[in-house]
Amino acid sequence: MINKTGRGTWANRWTFILATTGSAIGLGNIWKLPYMIGVNGGSAFVLIYILSILLVGIPLLMTEVMLGRRMQKNPMDAMRDLAKESNTSPAWRYIGAMGMLTGVLILCFYSVVGGWVLSYVSQAAQSSFTNITGTESSSHFDALLASPLTLLFWHTIFIMITMTIVARGVTAGLEKANNFLIPSLFAILLVLLGYSMSVGDMAASATFMFTPDFSKITATAALNALGHAFFSLSIGMGSIMVYGSYLQRDASIARTSIYIAIADSLLGLFAGLAIYALVFANQLEPGAGPGLIFQTLPIAFGHMPWGNFFGTLFFILVAFAAATSAMSLVEPTIAWVVENTKVSRKLAATGLGLLIWVVGVAVLLSFNIWQDVKVAFGLGIFDTLDKLTSTIMLPLGGLLMAIFAGHFMQKQYSQQELNLKKSSYQLWRLANSFIAPIAIIAVFILLLTS
Ligand code: PHE
Repeated sequence: MINKTGRGTWANRWTFILATTGSAIGLGNIWKLPYMIGVNGGSAFVLIYILSILLVGIPLLMTEVMLGRRMQKNPMDAMRDLAKESNTSPAWRYIGAMGMLTGVLILCFYSVVGGWVLSYVSQAAQSSFTNITGTESSSHFDALLASPLTLLFWHTIFIMITMTIVARGVTAGLEKANNFLIPSLFAILLVLLGYSMSVGDMAASATFMFTPDFSKITATAALNALGHAFFSLSIGMGSIMVYGSYLQRDASIARTSIYIAIADSLLGLFAGLAIYALVFANQLEPGAGPGLIFQTLPIAFGHMPWGNFFGTLFFILVAFAAATSAMSLVEPTIAWVVENTKVSRKLAATGLGLLIWVVGVAVLLSFNIWQDVKVAFGLGIFDTLDKLTSTIMLPLGGLLMAIFAGHFMQKQYSQQELNLKKSSYQLWRLANSFIAPIAIIAVFILLLTS
């Protein structure tokens, strides 16, 4: 639906829920969470991740929807007007600016991984995984990383798909796609989980993920878990704020946020359980890193009945989920350009797409030709972008939003917008003014001093 000012709004509350869930659910759940669990010591990471979702993630998700809906503008202008309304410094708008940059930087590596998924769609459709062994599957993935041209091809296709939908406008482009996407993704993940349960080592997987081992909690694991809670819920950079700005006044923000956080975490944890059951049954390495799902899932699809069909469908759905997240990564910037300049949505999407494509090329080369190029802290191009955005920029953006909503925004406005019972409102306020800021600052300090 397009209103008088030319801004789209969601057709109803349900489409907003689906679109926001579409932003939250993506590669973060299927690709990133599973390998992060393995790299960061299993259950210790899972525990901090769940705590971060509950104590920081849900309250901040509510905050972002609330801030966006109140002003019905792109994040940068919304923050400026919110600050004005509460008689505080217009400098708060830089939260919006930092968010735009964060989203663009994330998409530069996100699209490369999106390309890996597309390449797996094509391989599954050609039955390349039939009867594949663990070693074969690993070398399959290594071969993909070693081929810049193949990576370039799929990265390009991923950007083109994403930007075409963005150019049509989020509300028009997304409403239809999301209606079937998320339910189907859940369904196919259950098929995978069922299969892993029957042939994999589900007991080992559950122990690895859920038996707390406090000795494995390190500062880095804590920061990664907190950062991933932000990444997974799409919070800290304005994606949710801009989606909230397309939301009509009558929806309950609290219920919606809780629903989204539950769907998002469940999907990721299901994926993790299914994958580690396969990892342990096939003597693979839990700490394999970013390639983990690409090395393990083909084994399942290569052996299960109807494996080629399920495998193709699975990777198609993951690609779609990645695309709906990718759109939300650029939407703050696109909305800002469209609302402040004469540039059209189409042109803005094309320009931004090109920029991201170019940086993405550097990212994909960092897996082969530029393998030894180090950017910061001894990290390569891909790792630098990932760590910079997930563990610094997103938590920092979230910290500032929490402080703004908890200390600077006048109570009457947040109360009016959230429309909560008194006790729930106080809980939300406590989370934003103290719990979330303290948790985020504590993890930052822990890391600096470790
Ligand atoms: N939440 C998305 C995912 O899990 C990624 C994302 C991060 C999207 C930040 C928007 C903003 O894949």
